[in-house]
Amino acid sequence: MSETLLPKTICWVGGLDGWIEMIDQTLLPGELKVLACHDVETLWEAIRNLRVRGAPAIGIAAAMGVVLGIRDSRSSGEFFDNLAGVCSYLAGSRPTAVNLFWALDRMRARAEALRGADLKVLKQAMLAEAQAIRDEDAATCRAIGEVGQSLIADGAVLVTHCNAGGLATSEYGTALAPMFRAHELGRRFKVYADETRPLLQGSRLTAWELARAGIDVTILCDNMVGHLMSRTQVSLVITGADRIASNGDTANKIGTYGLAILAKAHNVPFYVAAPRSTFDRTLADGSMIPIEERPADEVRKGFGRLTAPEGVACYNPAFDVTPAALIRGIITEVGLVSPVTPGNIRKIFTDEACNEPERR
Ligand code: MRU
Repeated sequence: MSETLLPKTICWVGGLDGWIEMIDQTLLPGELKVLACHDVETLWEAIRNLRVRGAPAIGIAAAMGVVLGIRDSRSSGEFFDNLAGVCSYLAGSRPTAVNLFWALDRMRARAEALRGADLKVLKQAMLAEAQAIRDEDAATCRAIGEVGQSLIADGAVLVTHCNAGGLATSEYGTALAPMFRAHELGRRFKVYADETRPLLQGSRLTAWELARAGIDVTILCDNMVGHLMSRTQVSLVITGADRIASNGDTANKIGTYGLAILAKAHNVPFYVAAPRSTFDRTLADGSMIPIEERPADEVRKGFGRLTAPEGVACYNPAFDVTPAALIRGIITEVGLVSPVTPGNIRKIFTDEACNEPERR
């Protein structure tokens, strides 16, 4: 990705008295504007209203938000009170992407490990942990790109849904990472990006990212994919994920499930790309994943004017769950999980090469 002139999706500026900067994604592609968050309330609003969005980016935002929430503490007692308060406040911003809860858990665990330490040490550790979460995500996305690039042959035709690119992570992305990497390796391929109603992350953000990188991208409305697959040999679908249960059932942007069924009907392999921080191993299957419901006007006034009768009832879930059986493989930073089975998922957490502590 040609990131040289791009501001970072999200970063912390300065030391403990610093602030968060993020690209305000609600303004793209028309305007590339950086939003500064100096307090937790501004950050909460930014997460809730998708100024920063995408599971890993939300996790990074939450971790940095913890720093905003604890930095004015005057004693370690107050530090731990503020920590509990800010974690519970930010946990209420969006319910589906588990990376948010994963990042808050990790911040809390780091603080607990230092209980009894000097207040200054505690505060600095929070900033360092938030920075580490951001930096590790960048490395993770590169690794996902490396694992996934081999799925994209020269001449391939891909479909993706929503945005799981550099804007949804620290940089580079998850579903888009294999595309960026394959492009860097000189492969030529074509990507169809679903528009992704109602908030248009596909046409506003994915098309913007891929076009900037020089990748051949075409947008289409979500309801055109079946027709596309019936007339064009699509090689594979890659989407991101917001939460993956122990059995591989995957929550992602609304419309992903329908896309997976269409892929199955047309014998198109359907892949999910996600870091291990997107797995929720406390959940046996996808039926337990909380699905965010968003305001009706996102559908009724999607284009800045009424597109439905005023006050008409509206169903607006932001995510759906794709059963593991429809997923050919999950591209993670430590390898491809395929077939998608509970046992194969367990392996990516227990392999000595990629040992990670049990979460939550
Ligand atoms: O509502 P959004 O825009 O936050 O939804 C984002 C998605 O569904 C992404 O596909 C997912 O978070 C993966 S991002 C790497």
